[in-house]
Amino acid sequence: MRLSLTDRCDLACLYCRPNRHDGYLERRLDLDAWATMAAGLVRAGVRRVRLTGGEPLLHRDVVQVIERLAALPLEDLALTTNATRLAKLARPLRDAGLRRITVSLDTLDAERFARLTRGGHLDTVLEGIDAACAAGFDEVKLNAVVLRGENDEELPDLLRYSWDRGIVPRFLEVMLIGEGATMRDRVVPAAEMRERLAEWLVDETPVRETDRGPARYVRARHDARLKVGFISGTSDTYCKGCDRLRVSSDGTLRPCLATNDGLSAEDAARAGDAILIDTLVHEAWKMKPDGETFRGCTEESAATVSIRAIGG
Ligand code: 5AD
Repeated sequence: MRLSLTDRCDLACLYCRPNRHDGYLERRLDLDAWATMAAGLVRAGVRRVRLTGGEPLLHRDVVQVIERLAALPLEDLALTTNATRLAKLARPLRDAGLRRITVSLDTLDAERFARLTRGGHLDTVLEGIDAACAAGFDEVKLNAVVLRGENDEELPDLLRYSWDRGIVPRFLEVMLIGEGATMRDRVVPAAEMRERLAEWLVDETPVRETDRGPARYVRARHDARLKVGFISGTSDTYCKGCDRLRVSSDGTLRPCLATNDGLSAEDAARAGDAILIDTLVHEAWKMKPDGETFRGCTEESAATVSIRAIGG
């Protein structure tokens, strides 16, 4: 289950930023409503939770949300962040019970970073990553969306940067949804990424890890403890076997990233009714597209989907 704590973000990445008609959600669940939501999810059988956004560290109660979630019987508690606020928050998040963290970072070049994010400062993000590495998380991962002609030459640098720090790098094809829908000619297929990194990787087919999402991993040639992941959300839809649900920041249960379908659990969360949330989660689960036949967005639906709002 992925919980989008807020659809707000302090960066505006080219492939993700809101289009002109894509305003912020007006209502956001508060700490108690999120705690009820989480209790309902656990009742419904959810065992793995990741906080996303938007940028989850912009939620003023994010540390307390983690604390409440950490008190529940979960097998995994993770968070995805752009790391602009991580230098200060890494330690408190770890102390609150966060187990794993993923940082989104597409480039190690400060000028390119500012352009891709529309005004972001690379230094603050690198400081945030250092803080995460020092905080003792079970795992730190890095997500880089690869864009042809923009950062595709940086794959080896991002690989080395990550492996030097014990971070698991993952390279993502840009998905053609939301702002990404206009980026068909910037897609670098995962197979090509792998070829570009071939000299550092074992010559084996990348494998998916059970219950661990869509990434396929390959080991480092020189050290079997190191690996790199590839996420091919465009050249190969991975809907088969998808067991994810999302909750957006207004309390809407979202059965699929690639559609605007949803079921509101907002009133139940605000009323403290975890039993009703359990029921609604089962309803939302039935709305999930059939993974055997579903192939992600259609050309028409793609532009109307907002990753930021549904929860990346
Ligand atoms: N294609 C691929 N990845 C995307 N993300 C956001 N938008 C897109 C897109 N169009 C990624 C972010 C982040 C993760 C939550 O989703 O870079 O790492």
